[in-house]
Amino acid sequence: MNPVKIGFLGFGTVGQGAAVVLARNAVEINRRAGRDIIVKSAAVRDISRERAPELASVALTTNHDDIVNDPEIDVVIEVMGGDEPARSLLLKAIANGKHVVTANKALIAVHGNEIFEAARKHGVSVAFEAAVAGGIPVIKSIREGLAGNKIQWLAGIINGTSNYILTEMRDKGRDFPEVLDEAQALGYAEADPTFDVEGIDAAHKLTILASIAFGVPLKFDAVYTEGISHITQEDTVYAEELGYRIKHVGLAIDTGNGIELRVHPALLPERRLIANVDGVMNAVLVQADAVGPTLYYGAGAGAEPTGSSVVADILDVVRVASADVHNRVPVLAFQHDSINESRTVPSSEFQTSYYLRILAEDVPGVMADISRILADQNINIEAIIQKGPASGSSKLPIVLLTKQIVEGAMDAAIAQLEQLKSVEGAVVRIRVESLG
Ligand code: NAP
Ligand code: HSE
Repeated sequence: MNPVKIGFLGFGTVGQGAAVVLARNAVEINRRAGRDIIVKSAAVRDISRERAPELASVALTTNHDDIVNDPEIDVVIEVMGGDEPARSLLLKAIANGKHVVTANKALIAVHGNEIFEAARKHGVSVAFEAAVAGGIPVIKSIREGLAGNKIQWLAGIINGTSNYILTEMRDKGRDFPEVLDEAQALGYAEADPTFDVEGIDAAHKLTILASIAFGVPLKFDAVYTEGISHITQEDTVYAEELGYRIKHVGLAIDTGNGIELRVHPALLPERRLIANVDGVMNAVLVQADAVGPTLYYGAGAGAEPTGSSVVADILDVVRVASADVHNRVPVLAFQHDSINESRTVPSSEFQTSYYLRILAEDVPGVMADISRILADQNINIEAIIQKGPASGSSKLPIVLLTKQIVEGAMDAAIAQLEQLKSVEGAVVRIRVESLG
């Protein structure tokens, strides 16, 4: 069979990672695809930038049209990142009848509905395994491997940079900014690293996972999003004392009264496998009715792990290219006309337990005041640790674990706690997820 020619939009960490994997494993890949896959060209911003020496045969250009309008190119790989021009270029490639593969979760989470519609119209495939959890084939597992199940909930550590930072803070006592710099140098972080540390990247990925798990449209704006920038070394130590690990998690839950979508730091019981996923590794735990819980684990970022997912998508696209478009695996797992609008649960209705850290004056009655406010909101305390004041301070950190309560009640209690004269500053609140 004729070789398949591919062109890259972007040739940085992921683009070169994928091209290196394609070159190194060319024989194995040909045995799987039944055809050679040739990287013809790549569009970049700066041609003079150094690239991997084994990719010298790839023609570089700064003109995107050299890729999306090239009649010889069958598959376009978008790994430039961001919104525009990535969106317009993918739509142009699709309009030109090319299959597209992307690692750009921001693009799929926000513009996926439009891109999939264009692809349906033009009878081409859109593949995006690399957009969620780097090298873990979690999209394929949920879309195809769990296709016989009703999925009840999923929970994931889906941002490698945040997990790397939290792990280094906990294990080595390192500072947040120093570890973030390192994650950027290792190629893990987004072009704008606030996407990683403020939970936006994880929210993009959760949007995609939820759509595939529940057959709902992509709704990025519906995700409650909180990052890790307020987590301190102190909180990681107290959490350990209580038998928990602080992880940044994405949760998508079919509550029966809507879909709960949230991304935030959480205390996870340290006995859970997922609480022991460290460094740049990611994991997604899926609870489904027939199979029960399944856990998908692997590298969440980096050149070759993410390249591995891009190459798997290229192979899929090549294999299905000859099948009738209506008989391919649906892009969001469910048939296009079966995607259901569903209510999104507001954060005030979330039901969970909480870790609270309150900095309080060492005066009589302070504990009674705190307990009264929590009791008034029907909040039950599970455990308390009271620490001595830090040197040079008269304030005591009081750490509490609560039983499950609706988030609206916790919001009200925190607002009242912060009004107490004996309480200083904001109350630290981290959700606790037992994932049982
Ligand atoms: P990167 O290393 O910064 O590479 C981006 C590439 O795109 C570079 O080659 C850059 O050109 C090119 N580029 C950017 N804007 C361009 C423009 N307007 N016109 C032409 N070329 C342009 O980024 P990356 O880490 O590979 O990430 C790429 C995508 O993969 C992003 O959507 C990211 O979210 C996603 N992703 C990344 C990882 C990871 O571990 N890094 C994992 C999963 C998904 P120059 O080389 O000339 O600068
Ligand atoms: N910046 C992302 C992360 C890359 O750290 O997880 C992988 O999507």
